[in-house]
Amino acid sequence: MTDLRSRFLEGMSRAATFVAVATTDGPSGRSGVTISSLTSVSADGDHPSLLACIHHRSPAAAAILGNRAFCANLLHESQESVANLFAGRDGQDRATRFDQISWSAGLIGQPMLDQATARFECKLATVLLWETHYIIVGNVVGVDLSDETAALLYGQRAYRKAVGLG
Ligand SMILES: Cc1cc2nc3c(=O)[nH]c(=O)nc-3n(C[C@H](O)[C@H](O)[C@H](O)COP(=O)(O)O)c2cc1C
Repeated sequence: MTDLRSRFLEGMSRAATFVAVATTDGPSGRSGVTISSLTSVSADGDHPSLLACIHHRSPAAAAILGNRAFCANLLHESQESVANLFAGRDGQDRATRFDQISWSAGLIGQPMLDQATARFECKLATVLLWETHYIIVGNVVGVDLSDETAALLYGQRAYRKAVGLG
């Protein structure tokens, strides 16, 4: 089983993903966490929808569940330091993360990070606790697009930029 787990982690590390920060604000507090699990679910429901998988012990997961809203901030390729900030990799106190960066409140009050390439403001639609992670599905109520389109990637345990094959 240990071997299966490590082979699973190695296999998944080869899948380059884009990097986002899931942020939330409201009665359960302001919080944010770096995620690679942001996934589009449907563009054609009553609202477009997306999902994120967040560890059940993450304070950001508890805050999203309590606030019933969040913003998925798809990071620009220049925002490696923002990814590290919200992954707790730079030793900053969790409480001061939002003081280190520029952000503004969106349509429904969720923190939208400046310079993110796309910002999806969501109302919580449904949640499933699967093993260690909450699978959090959001109904998208607003999309804010930057003119800078290149997203930050993470693969083989390092940040990367997409390079065209042509
Ligand atoms: C590139 C990258 C992607 C990550 N993706 C996820 C993810 O999808 N879900 C998750 O729960 N944690 C993910 N993490 C881990 C969290 O960002 C973070 O390290 C952990 O939750 C501890 O943060 P905390 O100090 O806010 O608790 C990722 C970290 C990095 C650097």
